[in-house]
Amino acid sequence: MTFREDRYERMQYRRCGRTGLMLPMVSLGMWHNFGTHAGHDACVAMMKTAFDLGINHFDLANNYGPEPGSAEARVGKILRDEFRTHRDELIISTKAGYRMWPGPYGEWGSKKYLVASLDQSLKRMGLDYVDIFYSHRPDPDTPLEETLGALDLIVKQGKALYAGVSSYRGAYFVRANEIVKQHGWTPITIHQPLYNMLDRWIETDLLEYTDSYGVGVIVFSPLAQGRLTSKYLDPANPIPENSRAADPDGFLKAEEVTPNIVRGVRRLAKLAEARGQTVAQCAIAWTLRDPRVTSAVIGARNPEQIIDCAAALRNISFSLEELAEINKLWLD
Ligand SMILES: NC(=O)c1ccc[n+]([C@@H]2O[C@H](COP(=O)([O-])OP(=O)(O)OC[C@H]3O[C@@H](n4cnc5c(N)ncnc54)[C@H](OP(=O)(O)O)[C@@H]3O)[C@@H](O)[C@H]2O)c1
Repeated sequence: MTFREDRYERMQYRRCGRTGLMLPMVSLGMWHNFGTHAGHDACVAMMKTAFDLGINHFDLANNYGPEPGSAEARVGKILRDEFRTHRDELIISTKAGYRMWPGPYGEWGSKKYLVASLDQSLKRMGLDYVDIFYSHRPDPDTPLEETLGALDLIVKQGKALYAGVSSYRGAYFVRANEIVKQHGWTPITIHQPLYNMLDRWIETDLLEYTDSYGVGVIVFSPLAQGRLTSKYLDPANPIPENSRAADPDGFLKAEEVTPNIVRGVRRLAKLAEARGQTVAQCAIAWTLRDPRVTSAVIGARNPEQIIDCAAALRNISFSLEELAEINKLWLD
């Protein structure tokens, strides 16, 4: 497959904290739409469209599907068939934390689980190494030292280049950084938290810490799984076919598209229009207005959505008035 020569001029890149890793400001995640039921040609088209736009970071996890593991298997095939000569231009991440197989070693944060899971992920994707390997969620029972020691081992074995954590809250994240410093282990390069206009926890409990430790931040679900788009605004067709909320395999349930959320998004649509953006573009741009956020990892069901989302970067600055208006969108 050939790709556009000008792809790197079409994207903007940010440094991931104070590390050597640059990431595209919009990345593509494979949580939905790359599993067993997805059309293979559609997946190839999405990855090609993304890469042609300079989106060279693909985000996976062991459990993405459905079936768990199937997104990695599919992306592995596409990497082999279409991106074989471009591996060194790509940042491929995967994670382990959620349930993958029965028994006590099939989830959470033990060394046994993390090492075995990454070995399985590498086999499914047909890769020698991933660029980023994440602890997918905090484990309340395994000592944090064990989880971080496993990440260090994995990097030292060359199975991952960078270590990441996902959904660690502020104090826990600080502890994690202190542990790796104390042991001289592989530093945490990146944090992957949820962040969008409907869930702003990182503003008060994370960004000051990632900043002080020089760790990058890639925010997931910047569109609140599609709710911060114009998808659910038609009163005559509130949950359209071809939407995540209508998909029985989708993580978003129809009842999570609440009247209050829809009312706020209608207001957001007016603000986005005045900025010359689609609702999705405005929502993504807003997550990137803070330079401490390295990248926003979106999901997509087709190439058009990726093109629309990438164009968010044309305007990521917001006036104080716009920010104040956004703060009030869901308040009454
Ligand atoms: N670390 C973690 O625990 C964690 C958790 C969740 C996600 N993630 C990562 O974050 C990635 C993104 O998550 P997400 O899929 O929830 O992100 P999202 O970007 O908030 O939502 C993606 C959905 O929004 C809709 N959409 C996208 N672009 C659109 C556009 N331009 N116009 C209208 N609708 C649009 C599509 O929904 P429809 O299908 O309805 O069209 C798409 O599937 C995942 O793939 C994964 O890599 C990580």
